[in-house]
Amino acid sequence: MNSQHLNMPARANQQTYDLFASGALVNSYPLFKRMREEDPVHYCESFGYWILTRYRDVEAALRDERLSSNRTALFINQLGSLDVNLIQNFLDLITKIMVEQDPPKHTQLRKLGNQGFTTRALESWRSIIQNTTDRLLDNVQNQGGMDIVSDLSIPLPLFILPEIFGVPETDRANMLEWTMNIGTFWGAPGGSNIEIEEFALHADRAAVQFSALIRQLIEQRRRQPGTDMISLLTVAYLEQGFNFEELPSLCIQILGAGLLTITDMISNGVNALLRHPDQLQKLQQNPALINSAVEEMIRFDTSVPFFFRIAKLDLTIGGKDIPKGSVIALGLGAANHDPQKFDSPSVFNITRSPNEHLGFGSGIHSCLGAVLARMELTICLTTLLRRLPNLRFDPDKQAIPTKHKSLLFKGFDSLPVKF
Ligand code: HEM
Repeated sequence: MNSQHLNMPARANQQTYDLFASGALVNSYPLFKRMREEDPVHYCESFGYWILTRYRDVEAALRDERLSSNRTALFINQLGSLDVNLIQNFLDLITKIMVEQDPPKHTQLRKLGNQGFTTRALESWRSIIQNTTDRLLDNVQNQGGMDIVSDLSIPLPLFILPEIFGVPETDRANMLEWTMNIGTFWGAPGGSNIEIEEFALHADRAAVQFSALIRQLIEQRRRQPGTDMISLLTVAYLEQGFNFEELPSLCIQILGAGLLTITDMISNGVNALLRHPDQLQKLQQNPALINSAVEEMIRFDTSVPFFFRIAKLDLTIGGKDIPKGSVIALGLGAANHDPQKFDSPSVFNITRSPNEHLGFGSGIHSCLGAVLARMELTICLTTLLRRLPNLRFDPDKQAIPTKHKSLLFKGFDSLPVKF
């Protein structure tokens, strides 16, 4: 990755930590531990950005008003020598999304976004989640085995979110592809120049196609509002006189965030449970522990191990001077394993309390969909363990962790199980 557009520290750090090395992709936590112990505020020359791995630094950074969420400079930097026009449509979409905004713009968008997550709406989604989980398990119940990813964790949010948003069934597959393509370039990808160009092209095309579909749905709901999320947000925009041009970005962000994170979190959670049979048994014997079990799954192996900020001013973190304009990767996954914050952090303990993990972030950008995410995870995992009590890894097939095309998302491409 070329770092010529970003501010770099005067003296480069000698240590190298390869976050995309195959061992680190399968299990990042030993590498995070080394980084936290050796160089917790690390300048990574190959990426051109800083990486924080201590809980206290990450939590403070999430709340630090001197850091901006607008990462346009990083996306341009990712292109290296490629022409910025390659990602013009991607930038048009991304620069309007909530998670990339700072106050006061962010405050307005967040208020609007909240209108889509009313208590009434959330309660109405409970039965959608339960019915979808049951339908997916009906499909495999008599097979004696399944792939958690392709049979459950991908289709679950892919059925739930379009239903919540009122997206036609015929557009589901496209929506998943567009979300993956936008998410890969947005999530700080690794790879050769050729791969980066390919990610950029796919992200740009996906931004055009996804925006066109959502615009069409907004127009429809404007004429004929229903009870779906696009209708709720359309009404809120009209009532508050907001710029309608920004609504597609808000819808796409909520859809995209809800698809990728839940898919990965279900697979990470099932993997953690199956690797710790004592904890699995404890949960099976006492299903009421599901809420604290879900929190521990998120702490133990979050699907969003990094988020990014840009320094708006020169600043100092952990004794290191970070120049204005620097990109800072906040290691949420690393922070969740910091022994200064958590007793025995590498122990998976479904009754851990307190459990103040940073899986959903903290501060003004903390996850807007956290209530929905918790609801999906608790319903899905409770139903899975109740209906398939003999769940175990498939000894004849390999689990495949995601190829980690981007730093921001982490999960499995395949997780074969038997029951
Ligand atoms: C286990 C699943 C999930 C995880 C681990 C997760 C994680 C996160 C994190 C770490 C942030 C903070 C970003 C920052 O500080 O800049 C965030 C923000 C956000 N999340 Fe989630 N998320 C999950 C599920 C969802 C779901 C299901 C939705 C919606 C359907 C959603 C929508 C959002 C939105 C819209 C934001 C931006 C909030 C803002 O900028 O104010 N997330 N999420």
